[in-house]
Amino acid sequence: MPINPYLYPNSYAARSSPLDVARSESRTFVSLEDGKSLYHTPNSKLPANLGFSWSCSAGEYDAEKGRELNTEEMRGKLFLKFTGCMRGRTMFVIPFSMGPVCSPFSKLGIQLSDSLYVVANMYTMTRTGLGILQKISEGTPFVPCWHSVGVPLLPGEKDVMWPCCREQNDKYISHFTTPDPERPLLGKYSIMSFGSGYGGNAILGKKCYALRIASKMGRDDPDKWMAEHMLILRVKYTPIVSVDPATKKKTFGPTEYFTVTGAFPSACGKTNMAMIEVPAEFRDEWSVSTVGDDIAWIHVVETEKTDPKTGKVVKTKEMRAINPESGFFGVAPGTGEKTNANAMATLRGGNIIFTNVATTFNGDVFWDGLSDTLPDDGVIDWKGNKRGWKSDPARRVFDDPTYEGYQKLSEQERKMKKRQFFNSLAHPNSRYTTPCVQCPIIDPEWNTADGVPLDAMVFGGRRSTLIPLAVRARSWNQGVLLGATLRSETTAAVQDRASGVLNFDPFAMRPFVGYNMGEYFEHWCDMGEKMKVDGAENVNTPDMYFVNWFRKNEKGEFIWNGFSDNFRVIRWICLNRLQKKKGDTSTERQQDTPLGYAPTMASLNLPPKNDILTDAAILTVPTAEGVDGETEWAREMKERKNFLDVFGPDLPKQLKTEFNDIVDHLVAA
Ligand code: GTP
Ligand code: MN
Ligand code: MN
Repeated sequence: MPINPYLYPNSYAARSSPLDVARSESRTFVSLEDGKSLYHTPNSKLPANLGFSWSCSAGEYDAEKGRELNTEEMRGKLFLKFTGCMRGRTMFVIPFSMGPVCSPFSKLGIQLSDSLYVVANMYTMTRTGLGILQKISEGTPFVPCWHSVGVPLLPGEKDVMWPCCREQNDKYISHFTTPDPERPLLGKYSIMSFGSGYGGNAILGKKCYALRIASKMGRDDPDKWMAEHMLILRVKYTPIVSVDPATKKKTFGPTEYFTVTGAFPSACGKTNMAMIEVPAEFRDEWSVSTVGDDIAWIHVVETEKTDPKTGKVVKTKEMRAINPESGFFGVAPGTGEKTNANAMATLRGGNIIFTNVATTFNGDVFWDGLSDTLPDDGVIDWKGNKRGWKSDPARRVFDDPTYEGYQKLSEQERKMKKRQFFNSLAHPNSRYTTPCVQCPIIDPEWNTADGVPLDAMVFGGRRSTLIPLAVRARSWNQGVLLGATLRSETTAAVQDRASGVLNFDPFAMRPFVGYNMGEYFEHWCDMGEKMKVDGAENVNTPDMYFVNWFRKNEKGEFIWNGFSDNFRVIRWICLNRLQKKKGDTSTERQQDTPLGYAPTMASLNLPPKNDILTDAAILTVPTAEGVDGETEWAREMKERKNFLDVFGPDLPKQLKTEFNDIVDHLVAA
C-alpha cells in the first residue's frame, strides 16, 4: 500500500501474514561437518532448566529415520520442495554484493526469489545490479541463494496479499557450508530458504549470508576474519584546549577519531546506538557518525606507518570493519523524534518499505513510540483491520478518565494496557527498510573499501537486574568471556519464543553462528592472538566492554535513561582509549569491580540534579547476600559455569582461566 508521498516520498507499507512476522528460529538449519553440532559437542548433555533453550537446530529430526537428516538428505528434500514451487509467479534474479563492490572484504551472491517484497528489500539492503553479474561472469565466486514463498499459483488462481507456508514446519531456512556433490561448480556455501517471506528468513543477504555463512567463511579462511552482529559507530572528538577569557573564543586541539562496535541481541538497541544523538552539552567537542547498524565484518590488517618524530617505518596491526549492508532494517516501535531523531530523519528521506506498521487514513504510519497519542480518526492495524476507538473499552481503560474501567486501574496497570493496545496496532517487530545514505549522520567512510579501524567493542543485553551499567574487561580474552556469557531477556524479534525470558546469547550471535559455538569462541581468542605483533600485545587491539542499558527498579522503571544518554558511556570509552594510546595509566576515571573497570560517577558528567541515573548502585557490582545466603552474583556465575560446561572439550582453555579469574575477584570482593 502506498504511503502519502508528502510525508515519506516513494514509500510503501506491507502487511505480512500473521503466520510470518519474525525470524523462525526453530525452522532455521545449519549444515555442519560430520560429527559436529552447532552448540555443543554431540555427546555432552544440555542441562535442563537453565533458563535457556537452543533453537536454530543443526538438522531436522526425521521421525521415520529416528534421527536428524544429514546434509545431503536435507539438500535433497529442499530441491524436491523447490521443484515447481514458483509456478504461476515471476522468478527474480538478484545479483548482489555484501560490502562495497570495490572492497577486498566484500562477498558476492545471487538470490533467486518469487517475492517482489524480497526483491525491493534486497535492493535497499545490499548492493545489486549488472556490475555484480559482470564480476561473477569474470570468475569472482558467489553464494547461490534460493528463496521461495513456497506457494505456487494454479492458472487463474487469485493470489493472497502475503503468500507463505501456513504450517511452520513447512518452512526451511537452510544453510550449507559443504559443496553439493551433484553441483560442485556452485562452490562450498549455499542458502535455501523456503516458505517464509519475512525479514531475516527471506532477505538472504542479511542474517543468512552476512552472519551465518560469512561467520563460517571467516573461520574457514586461512586469513581469519569475523562476521558479527554489531553496529559500527564512529566518534569524532576535537577537545577545547583553551578559551580566551576576554573574547570567549575557543581554541581546539587536534581531532581524534574512535570507532566503537556494539553487539546486542535483536531489538536491544543496536540501531538506536548506531544513530545516537550526542547530548547538547557535549556537542562543542563531540560528534558521531554511523557506519552500520546491524552487521560488521572484521579483519586484522597489517599497516605500515611512518613515525612522524623518528621518520622510521613502524609495522603494526589494526582491526578494520566494514558494514556489509547498504540499508537499515530497523525495528519501528520505539523509534521516534525523542528516542532516535536520526532514524526519523533517515525515514523522512523516503524510499522506505514499512512492514507491519499501522497506517492512518491519510496515508501516514503509526507505531508505539512514533507518537504517544493515538491518531484521532483511527488507523488500519498491521493485520489490515480498520480500528476506531471512540467507544473502544480497550482504549478507554487507559485513556478516558470518565470511563469507569479507567478508575479501577492503577497508573501502572493503565500504562500496561496502553502498551498492549499500541502493540495491537503496529506489530512489536514491525520494521522499516531504508537506504543507509539517507541517514543524516552517515559516516563519510561508510562505503570505503578498507573499512574503519576499531577502538572498542561493546557487548550488552537486556538485564533488568544485577548487571551493571558498564564495565571494561581487563583483557581481550576476559572481554571474550563476557561476550560468550552474554544473557538477555527475550524480545519480539523472534517468531517462536516467548518475550521476557532470560536466555544466553553469546556475542548476540546465538541464532547466527554458522558453525560450532565452542569453535566460534576459540575463533574470538584466535583473533586476539592474531592482533599480537611479534608475540606482544598490540595497543591497537580493541578495548572490550560490557554494558546494560536496561536495569529496572522495584517499580519496573528503567534506572538509566538510555538512548542519547548512552553517549555518556561511549564518551567514557573513547576517553579511556585516548588515555591508553597516550600511555597514561592514571585510574581516576574508573573504579575497580570484580568484573572489570566501571566508570566513576564523575566521569559520566551527569548534571547535578537529574533523572538520567536514578540509582548509582548500578555502577558497581553488588556483593551483598541475596536469597538463601547465596549472593546474586554467585548464582549468576554458577549459571554461567553450567552454560560454559555445555561446550565440554570445545570450550577454549583461555576462557576457563578467565572465568576462574573473575570468580576469584568476586570472592575477594
Ligand atoms: P535488530 O535490528 O533486531 O538486530 O535490533 P536492534 O539491536 O537494532 O534494536 P533497536 O535499536 O531497534 O532497539 C530495539 C528496542 O530497544 C526499541 O524499542 C528501543 O526503543 C529500545 N531501546 C534502544 N536503546 C535503548 C536504551 O538505551 N534504553 C531503553 N530503555 N530502551 C532502548
Ligand atoms: Mn539484528
Ligand atoms: Mn537494528
